[in-house]
Amino acid sequence: KATKLEDYVSPAFLVDHVDLTFFLKPEATKVHSKLKIRQNSDCKQSLFLDGDALRLDTVVIDGRVLGQDEYECGEFSLSIPDFPSEAILEIVTFIDPVHNTKLEGLYLSSGNFCTQCEAEGFRRITYYPDRPDVMATYTVTVHADQDSYPVLLSNGNLIDQGVEEDGSHWAKWDDPFPKPSYLFALVAGDLACCEDSFKTRSGQDVTLKIFVEHGNEDKCAYAMDSLIRSMKWDEERFGLEYDLDIFNIVAVSDFNMGAMENKSLNIFNSKCILASPDTATDFEFERIEAIVAHEYFHNWTGNRVTCRDWFQLSLKEGLTVYRDQEFSADMRSAPVKRIQDVRTLRARQFPEDAGPLSHPIRPESYIEINNFYTSTVYEKGGEVIRMMAELLGKDGFRKGLDLYFERHDNQAVTCDDFVAAMEDANGANLKHFRLWYSQAGTPEVEANWSYDAQEKTFTLTLDQFTAPTPGQDVKQPLLIPFTVGLIGQNGAALPLKLEGENGDKQTTKRTLQFDQDHQIFTFVDVNELPVPSLNRNFSAPIKLSTKYTTGDLAFLMGHDKDAFSRWDAAQTYASRLMLKMVKSVQEGGVAEFDSQYADILAINIADKSLDPAFLAQMLGLPSIDYVTEQMEVADFAAVEKVRSVFKAGIAKALYGQFKELYLAGKEAAAYSPDSDSAGRRALCNTALGYLSVIENDPACLKLVVDQFEAADNMTDRMAALSLLADIPGEEREKALKAFESRYADNTLVMDKWFAVQATSTISNALEEVKKLLTHSAFSYKNPNKVRALIGAFSGANPARFHAEGGEGYRFLADSIIHLNGINPQVASKILAPLGSWRRMNATHQKMMKAELQRILDTEDLSNDVYEIASKSLV
Ligand code: ARG
Ligand code: ZN
Repeated sequence: KATKLEDYVSPAFLVDHVDLTFFLKPEATKVHSKLKIRQNSDCKQSLFLDGDALRLDTVVIDGRVLGQDEYECGEFSLSIPDFPSEAILEIVTFIDPVHNTKLEGLYLSSGNFCTQCEAEGFRRITYYPDRPDVMATYTVTVHADQDSYPVLLSNGNLIDQGVEEDGSHWAKWDDPFPKPSYLFALVAGDLACCEDSFKTRSGQDVTLKIFVEHGNEDKCAYAMDSLIRSMKWDEERFGLEYDLDIFNIVAVSDFNMGAMENKSLNIFNSKCILASPDTATDFEFERIEAIVAHEYFHNWTGNRVTCRDWFQLSLKEGLTVYRDQEFSADMRSAPVKRIQDVRTLRARQFPEDAGPLSHPIRPESYIEINNFYTSTVYEKGGEVIRMMAELLGKDGFRKGLDLYFERHDNQAVTCDDFVAAMEDANGANLKHFRLWYSQAGTPEVEANWSYDAQEKTFTLTLDQFTAPTPGQDVKQPLLIPFTVGLIGQNGAALPLKLEGENGDKQTTKRTLQFDQDHQIFTFVDVNELPVPSLNRNFSAPIKLSTKYTTGDLAFLMGHDKDAFSRWDAAQTYASRLMLKMVKSVQEGGVAEFDSQYADILAINIADKSLDPAFLAQMLGLPSIDYVTEQMEVADFAAVEKVRSVFKAGIAKALYGQFKELYLAGKEAAAYSPDSDSAGRRALCNTALGYLSVIENDPACLKLVVDQFEAADNMTDRMAALSLLADIPGEEREKALKAFESRYADNTLVMDKWFAVQATSTISNALEEVKKLLTHSAFSYKNPNKVRALIGAFSGANPARFHAEGGEGYRFLADSIIHLNGINPQVASKILAPLGSWRRMNATHQKMMKAELQRILDTEDLSNDVYEIASKSLV
């Protein structure tokens, strides 16, 4: 059942051109495919084509209709023995888009036809060698009823169109760039359009269109602006220009993922396009900007140069994640962006890498490729690219990328090809570095140091260790780019000169190449006892443990010039204190808040040189998950309790400061979605968050209620609502009702309303979630709804999910079993929390494993769910 990297063989046949004709009908769409095929190898072989849920009508070779004995049609394939070395193959199939609840292939969303072909959806449209190393040019003709589907789109340029007498019309599209089938797209529907244009550096005019459902025209401006900024940025930063005269984006309501980079016809989850001040939060604006950029950037990293096979997924995804992160860093605050990205990595990728589904960024085996669109392939993949950029320098990285495109334009290649281009362009040797592609697990690095006042030397000792992961018992040391600084008593950066180095090059920040199990770095001419600042800007995706004293951490929180490390010192310090509190609670004592932490926050608040967005991050506490992960046996309830005591402790200690911050923030200028304004709102709402936990203070509760009622934008309204959602009582119910009636007609905003209840800390959150399943706005068929309610509860409300009686587990398993029959991809995506049983106590382990077993015992279990559930159980 598993597909393996080592089994890769190049395709026996290639396709030079694909000519598709669609006659669109919701229940029976006719697909006529005409393929220009040529043999790729010397030995004679059968032609093998993939297919799934297709009704085969006719097979024709070079004009001759084949008899049924001349081909073999299985459930997932069509094979034709003795296929000529060159021929035109025509196949007619029928498909049923309206009953396609998997949302893979051709399906209907709000009555509009759309497609999702990555990774293996094209085979649900027609028989085809559905693998990315078969690249062809495409011509696509779409016929549909003109009234119901006035807009007809596919990849490339519109080259012809016409109207028929029977009320249908047609459009013919031509894509001159060879592409794999996963980049094919088709859209037909009644859609509104927002239009703009972009002139490339070399003078090409590009028409930009965003298609949305009628009524959403006023929510496209930010996505359009993001697209234009992305196009400009990619020219300036990487010299990459757009290559066609038209670029289309379509937003649909039912979509398994965020978005898809189909050549010149990106299809998006409407959640990742639509935004207005009244309907989207700052966080969502930022996400839209990042995803629009991500999909646009794929035009070069993914489409012009694509993947040889799906094991190479990180070739395009890691690289494109890195590119979109860099773009956002340039558009906004770079340090804050880095902090957010590391937060995400730690929240999603680290647990994945420490759990039963741990895999390298280039996996070696899969049962269902859809299960490998993971945080590891994407986010850790992005970190691996970032480390290369760090090792080679900005210019060196650019040279490598230039060579990569020079060598591989219009090819389907491997991760190794990418690294080779980086090496060859720089005369570098990345042999050891390549291990990041094949070794799974998060390296744990331990840093120790000593200072010799006599010799004026500072000795840093680094040890690395990577715990075994499934299938990889023995780990090797990785090449870790480890960026360090030494900070003197008054906060000044000390020069960093390694022993044995000559020259007077004075540098205060440098990246050590740490590539052994155990390595010692000695710095000389260190004139005073420093505090080291380590893994600055998170130069490598590792878990770092240090012997920092609380004094050191407090010092770094006040003095580190590296914003990331300054923030990380706060995270480390706060987690340490919380874990200490947990321990005393577990030993029957009380959790006492150490006010020293608040004192250091006060210093940060008083520092007017800090960017508000950054200060908001400094004030943000580590998540329940982050703290719990550092425990031998997870106890979410205890951590939740302690975290709220900790938060309340800070709130009480800094009441005056928070009130001041809040009131000052409220006076700020009128709403605008830009990064600076968003930063001010983030700070203001963080302050409000602290004020809201001060118990028995009606004045504080009133601030929250007032903000909810008076807010002129979604960020402030939602911030207040999520605080109220955690405070049982009349105000909570009133606010939820008001929000519901205000946004009843806006399905995307209703998702926020579902999620805020699913993630509430109130004790009966699960009961509420179950009730909401019957709400008229909820539907199991819509992935956004499932994620907002079921996914948010099990993935982002750990204390309720891990409830004593196991009802959270039961609920998730029931949901997955139900969704398995509707949309396996969505079902398997929300399964992960059940796989974390190893970290729980024996009672919880037993309950979680029983639920996994119950899922596995389900009849007609999809590959998607089977793979995740079975791997989670062993
Ligand atoms: N390539 C798309 C993106 O990054 C995601 C497509 C995911 N498809 C899937 N079957 N999981 O941007
Ligand atoms: Zn992508």
